[in-house]
Amino acid sequence: MTIRICIAGATGWVGRELMRAVAASEDLALAGAVARRAAGEVAGGVKISATLDAALATPTDVVVDYTKPDAVKGYVLHAIGRGVAVVVGTSGLGADDYAEIDRAARAKGVGVVAAGNFSLTAAL
Ligand SMILES: NC(=O)c1ccc[n+]([C@@H]2O[C@H](COP(=O)([O-])OP(=O)(O)OC[C@H]3O[C@@H](n4cnc5c(N)ncnc54)[C@H](OP(=O)(O)O)[C@@H]3O)[C@@H](O)[C@H]2O)c1
Repeated sequence: MTIRICIAGATGWVGRELMRAVAASEDLALAGAVARRAAGEVAGGVKISATLDAALATPTDVVVDYTKPDAVKGYVLHAIGRGVAVVVGTSGLGADDYAEIDRAARAKGVGVVAAGNFSLTAAL
């Protein structure tokens, strides 16, 4: 089964690497990409959208968010609201934000993995 991925923050330091990694993966497919300044350009075979709402017009299984602290919560809640699972890499969310995301995800039955630091040592 191929998992359809949308990268929010596609042109960023992390997002660019994720775009390459998804393109090189055998079981992941790039469904969408979000970034404001490069909106309208094509990367990894998909058009970059200015908003997550626009990107999710294409069927998507998982949004991976590496945007900015001021954007991430809105994007995560938006994806959950549309029944799309989320991996949150963006830092800056607090305990109250995680609690709100947890409630929304449970209410919708949507999976969310969130870690402000995905480094192996931090995860361990
Ligand atoms: N979890 C981890 O292990 C880990 C590791 C590294 C970084 N991080 C975190 O990940 C986040 C991203 O880091 P980075 O270094 O990749 O940042 P970056 O290079 O500044 O990239 C941010 C990306 O998000 C886009 N963006 C910003 N605001 C947006 C918005 N409102 N709507 C749509 N796109 C938006 C930017 O494009 P436009 O400005 O053109 O929209 C750009 O593509 C930061 O919070 C950082 O702390 C976490």
